[in-house]
Amino acid sequence: MATDTTLPDITQVIRHEAEWKSSRGLRYDIVPWRLYQKAKQLFWNPTEIDFSRDKEDYARMDEQQRRTIAFFARGFMVGEESVTLDIVPLIIGVADEGRVEEAVYLTTFAMEEAKHVDFFRRWFDAVGEDPQRLYEEGEQRRRELGVERDPTVGIFESELPKVMRRVLVDRSPEAFLDCGITYNQFIEGCLAISGYKLWGELFKRWKVLPGLQQGLALVRRDEGRHITYGTYLCRRILAEHPDLMDFARSRIYELADYFFGQFRFPKEAVGSLFDDDGRFLTDRAQPLADAFNVDVGEVEFIASFIKTGYDQVERRIQVMEKALSLTDEEALLGEGAEEAEIALETVEA
Ligand SMILES: [Fe+2]
Ligand SMILES: [Fe+2]
Repeated sequence: MATDTTLPDITQVIRHEAEWKSSRGLRYDIVPWRLYQKAKQLFWNPTEIDFSRDKEDYARMDEQQRRTIAFFARGFMVGEESVTLDIVPLIIGVADEGRVEEAVYLTTFAMEEAKHVDFFRRWFDAVGEDPQRLYEEGEQRRRELGVERDPTVGIFESELPKVMRRVLVDRSPEAFLDCGITYNQFIEGCLAISGYKLWGELFKRWKVLPGLQQGLALVRRDEGRHITYGTYLCRRILAEHPDLMDFARSRIYELADYFFGQFRFPKEAVGSLFDDDGRFLTDRAQPLADAFNVDVGEVEFIASFIKTGYDQVERRIQVMEKALSLTDEEALLGEGAEEAEIALETVEA
């Protein structure tokens, strides 16, 4: 088989003595640099969170509450591990394009993802729960229900690593855009945001675990910056290559169908479980609960997660479409990227 000579040899990067950006001048006026400044100001340390009340609460909670919280926390924790491991190729990609301010911001981004893993694992250790046991229980349950699944295939297991590693060998605008769509717009902007909404509802109902609540609020604040960067990245590429907007739209839908499809709840059925004001209709959920051999509470939990996820897909598309009215210079500055996320409550005002 002939070697594909179009692939860049990533070991052959030469940096020119006259072109170090810190010497020539950094762009303090662009969004990535501002995000870097905020990241330094808003530093926090998971070791400083007090989990003593969480330990007491967790011991007092009933089995159903414990399982719901712990399964959900494990899902977040492994997602954080995945994004920690897979941000690295993007840092190499933007660095090789000479976008030093972006690379500088992404160093804080990578450290924050690592900190999020650290936070969730500390919480498990503090309350005395073994997340690996939860995984094994979940697998056992799947076997009992006869659900076939390849544990090496999934958004975190195979899709994200593939998308992010593509930029090591493919420096096309579409390759970089797919990083922003998959990592920031979908995983952070749809999955994580939908997850935080559910956390909020659980804590409103159960008023427990103050340490977990405190850490989640800090994680969410970091994620607001990450999503803002993703908006910046996608808009910068789309302003210069508006023809890629069709790809952006179809790609985020493809990711949503891929991820939410694993829950086996038909998309149309999920929509019919809520009234026009977004209230869950318990009586309509019963047949679905019976069909999947779960209780109605579980249907509500999963259906809410899916519904908010798809609502977010629409919002993320609108955010990206704004790029089409920006000049290249406005997109480089990140014009409107922070304001858009404040309006969506992705970041604090
Ligand atoms: Fe994170
Ligand atoms: Fe993140």
